[in-house]
Amino acid sequence: MKDTDQKISFDRGVPATESFSVKKIGAVAKKVMDKYGNSLLQYGDARGFSPLRDKLADWHEGSVRGDILIGNGSLQILDMIANLYIEPGDTVLVERPSYDRAITIFNRAGAEVQGVKLENDGPNLDKLETLLETHHPELLYTIPDFQNPTGVCASARKREEVAELTAEQGTLVVEDSPYRKLRYRGAEKPTLRSFNPEGVVQMSSFSKLIGPGMRVGWVVGNSETIDDLAVYAEDTYITPSLLSQGMINHLIEEGWLEENIKELIALYKPRLEATLVSLQEYFPEAGWVQAQGGFFVGLWLPDSSLASKFYDRAEKENLILSTSEGFFPDCKAEGFVRLPFPALSPDLIEEGIRRIGRVWRDL
Ligand SMILES: Cc1ncc(COP(=O)(O)O)c(C=O)c1O
Repeated sequence: MKDTDQKISFDRGVPATESFSVKKIGAVAKKVMDKYGNSLLQYGDARGFSPLRDKLADWHEGSVRGDILIGNGSLQILDMIANLYIEPGDTVLVERPSYDRAITIFNRAGAEVQGVKLENDGPNLDKLETLLETHHPELLYTIPDFQNPTGVCASARKREEVAELTAEQGTLVVEDSPYRKLRYRGAEKPTLRSFNPEGVVQMSSFSKLIGPGMRVGWVVGNSETIDDLAVYAEDTYITPSLLSQGMINHLIEEGWLEENIKELIALYKPRLEATLVSLQEYFPEAGWVQAQGGFFVGLWLPDSSLASKFYDRAEKENLILSTSEGFFPDCKAEGFVRLPFPALSPDLIEEGIRRIGRVWRDL
């Protein structure tokens, strides 16, 4: 077998299968059925399972139960926000690049999606200010913690300035932070919402902390926005998956979730290190983000005009890379490559990046 015979997939940003606590979750399903079975199997509050809403309110300083809505994954919450607050023709700002599915949601709502260049410490503030003044956007979507697809973590200063600039224009900010608790290096930054609790809604999810199949995400915001979302949610799916929420409530009560997050950090930290070290060793001529957490390292090819040839050659070398156009609102990917690392062992990461470097030099 040649060393390139094995397919290496840097395609989807999914958790490592070995991180799933299948037996534990199965046992917890039985326990919560015994304890809350009748109410979890019945239609219930569209805002989610109250005990879990209380716990999430504790996670978000200054929040109460009424500021929290729990839905079926955070992406659906984003779709509800888009449907509620965006009219066709409204401008929505996103980082450039940004999460492809979020861009799809805004396009589907009829928005004119504009990108704000993302730098190593967060969005370019001059560009943001100009777009805010010229386009009066309805909404800014931002992922300040270990962004998908780049891995960028915004600085505290930029978070504060983004919150201030958007507040001046009355632009709603959606802060999407599913990777926030997966920090492998460095110190935590304040949330954007902490600078403007009235004007920022913050979303997160248990997809990366337990497993996406739980389909549990949440949003914290001012009670008016949460009320709007609750009506929309009830008219859409009546009640979210209470069984999953009951299980997560139990996992938090037991202290299991906190331990699991520590285990995830121990699993993923060496994978991030392997990615960064291998890039330095095998592809030093490229540019990349010194990510400190999350699932991704964003890579820029040294010459974007060779990107499509690079992708063709990479495929022949059994490398599966995600195409990057979807991360850019104007679909111009400019030689960007997203490298998700959690689902690969450090050895496979090293071999994958060695191939990436070789493919580039062969061009
Ligand atoms: C930034 C971001 N937001 C939202 C989601 C969707 O998460 P969920 O599974 O909670 O819908 C993802 C998933 O990859 C993501 O990267």
